[in-house]
Amino acid sequence: MSKVATQNAKTPLIQGENLWKSYEAGAIPVLNGVDLSVDAGETVALCGPSGCGKSTLLHLLGSLDEPTRGRVLLNGRELKRSSERRNALRHEVGFVFQLHNLLPDLTLEENCLIPSIAAGISRRDALVRFEQLAGRTGLIHRRAQKIQKLSGGERQRTALCRALMNRPALLLADEPTGSLDEKTSAQVFELLMELVATEGITLVMATHDRALAAKCRRLSEMHEGRLYV
Ligand SMILES: Nc1ncnc2c1ncn2[C@@H]1O[C@H](COP(=O)(O)OP(=O)(O)OP(=O)(O)O)[C@@H](O)[C@H]1O
Ligand SMILES: [Mg+2]
Repeated sequence: MSKVATQNAKTPLIQGENLWKSYEAGAIPVLNGVDLSVDAGETVALCGPSGCGKSTLLHLLGSLDEPTRGRVLLNGRELKRSSERRNALRHEVGFVFQLHNLLPDLTLEENCLIPSIAAGISRRDALVRFEQLAGRTGLIHRRAQKIQKLSGGERQRTALCRALMNRPALLLADEPTGSLDEKTSAQVFELLMELVATEGITLVMATHDRALAAKCRRLSEMHEGRLYV
């Protein structure tokens, strides 16, 4: 193997370096110097009390927000320009939000196709991928249903499909089963882990659920804006 290939193999997929984040001109400090490095293929759970900064950290890692200080590197590359961040989000990173952020008046299928069409993928290719994911998550028969008519578990599975539509290398999942009852939560999580494993996706997931966290390869504890690996 060449030296370059060896170096690339060692580059973490996602890195947060000395990340600080505060709101309202520093009046609300949220992240206080977080370092996190995740290799391709890892599954990492972020645990910690409500308000400790888990969602904030995931938003920074996914380029949805910018740190006050520090930097985020995707595949060893800092995304400096907003166009680079947008591209990364569209093609390399999938995000499952704490509140699923689906568009309630659109159908399940429409919600899933939006990120692919926005990324310039043809409708035909997007439909093939949608049918594959909706089939695997047991949603295909609900494809024409509006989000507002779906159950909580169906919405979370839809959010998972939407996040995976563009075959991201990295999935950032913010309490992906937080709003569900125990049984449904376990089912959705199992599906998530199965998709992550079969598609070779790297996962960073915020969760309050210690049993789910234990199924990830690594568990990082957050407390008052600091990360304890
Ligand atoms: N846009 C914002 N403006 C001001 N404060 C904010 C903003 N976003 C988050 N915060 C504050 O930052 C802190 C961390 O929030 P964050 O959502 O990251 O916590 P969390 O660990 O994800 O909590 P939970 O487990 O409840 O989801 C909280 O005190 C929150 O009120
Ligand atoms: Mg949160």
